Amino acid sequence: MKINSAMHSHSSINFKSYNMIDNNTGNSISTNFYHDTEVLQKAVKIIEKEFPRGTNILVYAGSNGEEALSINTLLDKRFKYNIYSIDKSSKAIDFAHKGIYAIHPLADDGFLLNLNSEENKQFLCRIFHKNFQETKPSFPINNLSDPIYTIRFDNVDLYPQRYFIPKESFKENVSFIKDDIKDIESFNNHQKAGAIFFRNAIYQLTDNNLSGVFKLGDRPNLATNKRKIILELIDKIYNKLEMKGVFILGNHLQEHLYIADRTIPLEDTVLVDDARNIRFMKTHPVIEALKKNGRFKPLFEFLIPGLGNNTLKLPLIWQKIK
Ligand SMILES: C[S@@+](CC[C@H](N)C(=O)[O-])C[C@H]1O[C@@H](n2cnc3c(N)ncnc32)[C@H](O)[C@@H]1O
Repeated sequence: MKINSAMHSHSSINFKSYNMIDNNTGNSISTNFYHDTEVLQKAVKIIEKEFPRGTNILVYAGSNGEEALSINTLLDKRFKYNIYSIDKSSKAIDFAHKGIYAIHPLADDGFLLNLNSEENKQFLCRIFHKNFQETKPSFPINNLSDPIYTIRFDNVDLYPQRYFIPKESFKENVSFIKDDIKDIESFNNHQKAGAIFFRNAIYQLTDNNLSGVFKLGDRPNLATNKRKIILELIDKIYNKLEMKGVFILGNHLQEHLYIADRTIPLEDTVLVDDARNIRFMKTHPVIEALKKNGRFKPLFEFLIPGLGNNTLKLPLIWQKIK
């Protein structure tokens, strides 16, 4: 007997969707619609206020496009904005070009369930359904590779996914492009951008994979000079942004808690694992780089799950001010 023969209402869709590993790098390319909703909603409001006549919005680490499309649903006058969803993973961009999105109706998304009011949840469901329509794929789609996902939902027949495609014209202002943020300067014929998103990917760029700390035996790479990579990244982002443009960071713990590599003097570290001599950096290298010469100012702070017993807030939206 099928347990879930009951129809799911709109509000039961909570946007848990793309779960994948890139085969070449072994890195996660997972994402979901409205990931870290609060930040997305706030960022879109600022972009509309600072660039009412439109601008380029670069969504790096855009994965299969769900982040860029979520942003597009939130814009009041989307036709004024060119959105580029950019990722260095071919697998993610191939999925983006397929343009069909699998959503698990029962998977819980902490951000949506825990942090949002019922009213906001209903609002997000409304704008999603306004812009997407349900479909039956004509080709097999397997995006259930995430072990956590498959353990919890091991019987996909019992909890079938639902598939959605954007309604006609909704995607006109969005392009999906394979590229690396390292080449951001020349992207789009050197044109500037009003907003740059690079969320939950700095940890991949800097080998700051915290599972190397928390899972014993998995030794983190201490050779990568994280500070140098981050400074170069933020310099490039600064150069690419228009004045008053914004840069948006991710909220995963490993974007904010950095394993000290060999370049960090001992006195600037905190010991976390005596036996393996693993240390964290005392300071936040991304915030240091953003604050350099007073070039960016923080606009809003958000809770980072796992940091300071879930009580510590950090600025995730930064504005270029000089
Ligand atoms: C964990 S996913 C995060 C996706 C999405 N931003 C989110 O927060 O839900 C990280 C993505 O960043 C991409 N990525 C990592 N390094 C990158 C780089 N140097 N340039 C562009 N994309 C990159 C990966 O391919 C992957 O799709």
